[in-house]
Amino acid sequence: MSLQGKRVVIIGGTSGIGMATAQAFLAEHAKVVIGSRSSSKLSDAVQALHQHVEAYELDFRHLDDVANFFGKVGAFDHLVVTAGEGAMGDFRELPIAEVRNAFESKFWGQYHTVRAAIPYLNEASSITLTSGVYGKKPPKAASTLAAINSAVEGLMRGLTLDLAPIRVNVVSPGLVDTPLYAGMTEEPRTGLFNHVAGQLPVGRIAQPSDIASTYVYLAKNGFTTGSVIMVDGGAILS
Ligand SMILES: NC(=O)c1ccc[n+]([C@@H]2O[C@H](COP(=O)([O-])OP(=O)(O)OC[C@H]3O[C@@H](n4cnc5c(N)ncnc54)[C@H](OP(=O)(O)O)[C@@H]3O)[C@@H](O)[C@H]2O)c1
Repeated sequence: MSLQGKRVVIIGGTSGIGMATAQAFLAEHAKVVIGSRSSSKLSDAVQALHQHVEAYELDFRHLDDVANFFGKVGAFDHLVVTAGEGAMGDFRELPIAEVRNAFESKFWGQYHTVRAAIPYLNEASSITLTSGVYGKKPPKAASTLAAINSAVEGLMRGLTLDLAPIRVNVVSPGLVDTPLYAGMTEEPRTGLFNHVAGQLPVGRIAQPSDIASTYVYLAKNGFTTGSVIMVDGGAILS
C-alpha cells in the first residue's frame, strides 16, 4: 500500500522515535503532521525535518486539547502515537501520584488520541500505538511501565475489533537512544546503554530509525492488525 500523498499524524513527532518516524514517512512521500506540547520543540522539529510538515501544539493528557488538535488537522489517513512519559521506582517506594501521572500520560494520552481521531479517519486507515519491552519483560523497579505497556497492548486488542476495518497495532521498542535519557548525566547513561547492549543478541541498543521503520511497515501492510511488533534487539530472549 503506497503512502504517497497520504496524511500521517504523529503525536510525539518532535523528538526521539516520533521524529525519526516523521522522517521515515516523509521518505515514503507521505504528508506529515506532528503534534506535541512544546512550541519550541515543534518549530525545531519542522526545521530539522527540512520538508513541509504541519505542526500543532497539544497536550494529549487533556481530551479537549486533543479534540481541538484534530479539529485543526481535519481528515487524515494514518495515526501514530509515540508520545508518553513513564515512571520508574520500586513498587513500595514510588509515590502513587507519580504512577497516576504516568498513566495519565502514556495510557490515557494514547486513549484520548484514538478517541478524538476516529471521526477524521477512513476505512483504509491505520492506528499505531507505542508500548515498550518492559510490558513483557520488566526489570526491577519497572512495575508502572509493565502495567502501562500491558494496558496499551490490551487496549489495542479491543480496538482492533471495535474500530475494524481500521487497523490497530502496537510497536514495542527495547532501549532506544533518544532524548528520553537527556535527564541522566553522561556517565550513568553510557553505563546503562553499554550494559543493555552487552546483554542483547544484536550487541547494541537501538537508534530511533530502527524503530521508525516499523511504524511505516504497519501503515503500509494492509493485512496486519491486532499485532504487537517487538523491536527490542532480542531483549525478550536475553
Ligand atoms: N527510548 C526508549 O528507550 C524507549 C523504550 C521503550 C519504549 N519507549 C516508548 O517510546 C515512546 C517514545 O519515546 P522516545 O524515547 O522517543 O521519547 P522522547 O524523545 O522523550 O519523545 C517524547 C515525545 O512525546 C512528546 N510528549 C510527551 N508528553 C506529551 C504530552 N503530554 N502531550 C503531547 N506530546 C507529548 C514530547 O514532546 P513535548 O515535550 O513537546 O510534549 C516528545 O515529542 C514513549 O512512549 C516511550 O515510553 C521508549
